[in-house]
Amino acid sequence: MDIAVIGSNMVDLITYIDRMPKLGETIEAPSFKIGCGGKGANQAVAAAKLGSDVMMLTKIGDDLFADNTLKNFHLNGINTDYVTVAKGISSGVAPIFVDKSSQNSILIIKGANSHLSTKDIDDAENELKKCKLIILQLEVPLSVVYYSIDFAVKNNIPVILNPAPADPKLDINYVCKCDFFMPNETELEILTGLPVSNIDEILIAANSLISKGLKNLVVTLGEKGAIWLDGNVIHHIVPHKVNAIDTSGAGDAFIGCFAHYLVKTHDILASLNMASAFSAYSVTGQGTQISYPDKKEFECFLGKL
Ligand code: RIB
Repeated sequence: MDIAVIGSNMVDLITYIDRMPKLGETIEAPSFKIGCGGKGANQAVAAAKLGSDVMMLTKIGDDLFADNTLKNFHLNGINTDYVTVAKGISSGVAPIFVDKSSQNSILIIKGANSHLSTKDIDDAENELKKCKLIILQLEVPLSVVYYSIDFAVKNNIPVILNPAPADPKLDINYVCKCDFFMPNETELEILTGLPVSNIDEILIAANSLISKGLKNLVVTLGEKGAIWLDGNVIHHIVPHKVNAIDTSGAGDAFIGCFAHYLVKTHDILASLNMASAFSAYSVTGQGTQISYPDKKEFECFLGKL
């Protein structure tokens, strides 16, 4: 197995809006889409679509949505041996609102994802030990995230931690054990308590984390690309200008693609550049996973850049 994603799956309920209603107001929205999402599952699907062997360790609900989530993992060639059902609990769901400028606001109801436990990690121990990379996010209990980091360190498996959604309680000592820490600018602001309204502020906030001993910090900046700090050098990852329709799941596309190329090439900068292109492609279509290209589509897109 190339990559293990230990994390969330959600059902995305995406409403395309002209504007948000005011309190007490009812307004009509132009359209709606339902799709498979969740930051963990999105990252797994992005890597799998590019050809990585991916296993997903996640909890699905005990409801109508669960079968579809499982079917979707299979359709994308993801190993589901360690996808388990949280008995009597509903699936995680995410009402998402996408405005006319393609920007999104997301609510998450974690449901089954809150029931992922350290025992689930123990049960998958033998398979996890064979993985070349582990990816984590914060839509499952922090105790599971910390346990997974310790497991990875003990077994010399590199870890990517995507601190999304941001949790100010995240323990920096665990963050520093990870090989890659990948927040977006909003998450960076919440985690550091520092402003991030321009690149200078972002660099100050980023350096405040680096000074705590982080190995690699990658801050994704949406249409402004990304920055990678490794303690010595600051690299700016250039964005690609596209006609954005829906930015939901673009950060997950970036991370899944980065993981795929990192495992294949071990070239961090080249993998980040690929991730920037892959996430640019993803914002040109509606939805989260459904907007990610497969290998052929991505190569065709790269050819046109
Ligand atoms: O990052 C986008 C994802 O966040 C969505 O798919 C939604 O499910 C939430 O987890």
